[in-house]
Amino acid sequence: MQHICSLAALPRGEALRITQVDPPIAIFHTENGEVLAIDDTCTHQDASLADGWLEGCEVECPLHASKFNLRTGVVDAPPAKRGVRTHLVTVTNDEIYVELSTLPAP
Ligand code: FES
Repeated sequence: MQHICSLAALPRGEALRITQVDPPIAIFHTENGEVLAIDDTCTHQDASLADGWLEGCEVECPLHASKFNLRTGVVDAPPAKRGVRTHLVTVTNDEIYVELSTLPAP
C-alpha cells in the first residue's frame, strides 16, 4: 500500500497523476465519491489520462477521445484497443492509499 494524499487534496471531479511509480498512475475522485486508480498512460498514443475528462466512472482521453472504464480498465470507446490496469484504492481516515496491481491490463 502506498500513501497518495489526503482525500481533501483530491476534490470530486478531479484527477491526480502519480509519477513516483513506474509506469505512472492516475487517481480519480468521481462525482459520486468513488476513488479509482488506473495506469495513467493511454494505450493509443501515450496521452496522460489524468488530463482527460471524467464522466461518471469513465475517463475520456484528452487527445483522441478514447474512453476507459475506471473500474475495469476496459476500453469503452476507440481508437484505443488495449485497456489499462486498474489498481486497488483504499481510503482510511480520509487518506488515500493505492496497491499497485501486478496483473496485466485487460
Ligand atoms: S492518445 Fe488517447 S485516444 Fe489517442
